[in-house]
Amino acid sequence: MAAGRLSFNNITALAPMVRVGTLPMRLLALDYGADVVYCEELIDIKMAQCHRVVNDVLETVDFVAPDDRVMFRTCEREKGNVVFQMGTADPDRALAVARLVEKDVAAVDVNMGCPKEYSTKGGMGAALLSDPDKIEAILRTLVTGVSIPVTCKIRILLALLPVAFLLAVADCVSLFRFKEERPRHPVHCDYIQAVAQAVSIPVIANGGSLDHVKTNADIEEFRRATGASSVMLARAAMWNASLFRSQGALPLEKVMEDYLKHAIQYDNNAFNTKYCLCQMLRDKVESPLGKQVQAAQTNAEISGLDAAARLPAWTKVKLCGFDVFGCRREYPPQITPKMFLLEWSRKEKLEQPQYETVQRAQDRAFQSTVTVAQKKYRSSLWEKSKKFAEQAAAIVCLRVLGVPEGRIGEEDSGLVCKRKREGKVNGAAEEERSRKRHVSDVLQQTSEVAVVTNGDSHQEAPPPSQRESL
Ligand SMILES: Cc1cc2nc3c(=O)[nH]c(=O)nc-3n(C[C@H](O)[C@H](O)[C@H](O)COP(=O)(O)O)c2cc1C
Repeated sequence: MAAGRLSFNNITALAPMVRVGTLPMRLLALDYGADVVYCEELIDIKMAQCHRVVNDVLETVDFVAPDDRVMFRTCEREKGNVVFQMGTADPDRALAVARLVEKDVAAVDVNMGCPKEYSTKGGMGAALLSDPDKIEAILRTLVTGVSIPVTCKIRILLALLPVAFLLAVADCVSLFRFKEERPRHPVHCDYIQAVAQAVSIPVIANGGSLDHVKTNADIEEFRRATGASSVMLARAAMWNASLFRSQGALPLEKVMEDYLKHAIQYDNNAFNTKYCLCQMLRDKVESPLGKQVQAAQTNAEISGLDAAARLPAWTKVKLCGFDVFGCRREYPPQITPKMFLLEWSRKEKLEQPQYETVQRAQDRAFQSTVTVAQKKYRSSLWEKSKKFAEQAAAIVCLRVLGVPEGRIGEEDSGLVCKRKREGKVNGAAEEERSRKRHVSDVLQQTSEVAVVTNGDSHQEAPPPSQRESL
């Protein structure tokens, strides 16, 4: 598609889908040939609390909630094709959110079709259909307030009402069933056709996954049958996104592998990854593969630990910023990931790791980025202290590089202690500590307090007895 303002004529789109339409799925759909990808519906109240963060490790733009959750993650690759769908019942809030994301997305869409209670009880989704004045206010405010196209996804009921204002202000409308209908009901091609003929803006036909679209060729058939400008697919794409491929669909295993590459590269929430893969597996969710997916806790585990190894090296290097799971107790006193990283860098004749730490205003938490061999690594978690933040960054770096990080029970790192230190404790505990010490005396020259950490942002600092000067 040509660069510039997004066109809704003659396109095939990935429909908005809660939990499914996150970044990996959107990129997968684009890989396979979708022209436009909608994100999952995001509620304006939650989005309005987010701040925009450029994640230079993952090369994404993240919209991060006060509790650190990434509500919306996007990247350059989809910038010209992604539509941000919001749930809203308030013109001013809708505008605030649209302005927040405006630089990073190609269009904004207002969900006027969701029949679920969480949407309708706030006056959003299909509840808007009973309040045309509100619809008009939201659309007019958005259209005049942002420079990108504004679209809406509505149910047939409204489109057949004499609401010329609606169709005159929006840039595009996508249509599916009647308000009372549910996904099992067949789509009404004739109604969509009537609307498409009556209005001058592009109409996207939706709702064809069950009865109409089984192959890529069916997409064009569905478009013709509805007389719409374009087609949007939800379930059919969720089950096998390679439906967008004009060369034909791919086996599910290949689609899952392709999806996982994006999930790993962009540090997708592992529960979200599992959810999407289970949707793809459908009735195979109890198969050995399905069980493997369900039992896994991380993206790497989901991929059987092999897919990560199969990724190209550059992808692995970018596999940073993942949450560091585990527990501080996994690390023996005196041994820290920072020590290991420093020692490893020296062994590899690299420059000393450089730590940069930022503190955010709202809770004064810290996040560090460590640069090693011109690559940056950081944990996505925020820490209570600068030292914890640096340790978390060091762990991420060590894990990405596959270097032992000094946890109890871990294989010997080969980083040998050159000089014994005077311990502050005696007996068995000290013996254990000596056994675990792998770091050289150079580390003793710093006066920093060593705090064994794993990047868990909510744990208290270890008691003073476990803190020792290096
Ligand atoms: C898992 C799932 C999540 C959905 N979430 C949204 C959503 O966030 N916003 C929205 O407008 N519609 C949502 N829908 C509705 C779809 O976008 C689409 O309108 C509907 O599934 C009919 O299209 P289809 O026949 O291609 O599946 C969702 C549908 C599914 C299956």
